[in-house]
Amino acid sequence: MTPVLQAQNIVKHYGSVEALRGASFEVAAGEVVALIGDNGAGKSTLVKCLSGVEIPDSGTVLIDGNPVTLDSPVTARRLGIETVYQDLAVAPELDPAANLFLGREIKRKGLLGKLGVLDKPEMRRQAAEEFSRLGVTLQSIDVPIGSLSGGQRQSVAVARSVVWASKVVFMDEPTAALGVVQREKVLDVIRRVRDEGMAVVLISHNMPEVLSVSDRVEVLRLGRRVARFSAAGATLEDLVGAMTGALTQEDAA
Ligand SMILES: Nc1ncnc2c1ncn2[C@@H]1O[C@H](COP(=O)(O)OP(=O)(O)OP(=O)(O)O)[C@@H](O)[C@H]1O
Ligand SMILES: [Mg+2]
Repeated sequence: MTPVLQAQNIVKHYGSVEALRGASFEVAAGEVVALIGDNGAGKSTLVKCLSGVEIPDSGTVLIDGNPVTLDSPVTARRLGIETVYQDLAVAPELDPAANLFLGREIKRKGLLGKLGVLDKPEMRRQAAEEFSRLGVTLQSIDVPIGSLSGGQRQSVAVARSVVWASKVVFMDEPTAALGVVQREKVLDVIRRVRDEGMAVVLISHNMPEVLSVSDRVEVLRLGRRVARFSAAGATLEDLVGAMTGALTQEDAA
């Protein structure tokens, strides 16, 4: 099966820091792949390279087997890739509905729409529907998102990504700030969109969570893929061993 998204030999420097040293990665439609690795392994950098935020120095990215150039986040989104960034990208002064529709605002019908007037009631209605479908509970959807808790903000960012993605959703530590209940809801959303055929890439340092939600695991160490596992056959020791370099797996790249 052709992976929906494939990265081959991605190299990315930040000045003299070599964040990615020929990293490879792939994910297929309808699977959750956990991308794991120690702090500084290059996970967030890889996600940024695969969502148009950073431009790799070299390497190849393929979507459905065809080489693409992800030169901006807009290009990546147009190709069906949505991302929940570790350093959250929500607009704090806007309410959750406006954040959900950020960059994709619904305009009023007719002349007002042509003049750029937004259809806020319609966006609120659709946003409330999506939040409820995805199990995101907010006391109010018309307060600035900056006044919500960190976990609620993270839930809105997760909802926005799955609402708009058509092929791949990257989630960089989406549950890190969440309590038990919200965390389970996000994991349920991940399973649900996976079952609808989406490719989901989850970055997490929580190994029980990784083993419970993912179908496969890819391990990055020092900017390279060093191991891959099917989640069903992997143990905690396997994952930790690969991340720390205690175990080596031939031929991972
Ligand atoms: N904007 C940047 N400028 C300079 N160096 C950077 C930048 N972003 C990342 N790096 C460096 O690149 C390397 C990989 O960082 P990255 O954020 O991708 O790691 P990570 O695997 O996501 O780690 P964590 O689990 O802590 O989030 C690190 O050495 C980091 O210091
Ligand atoms: Mg990171």
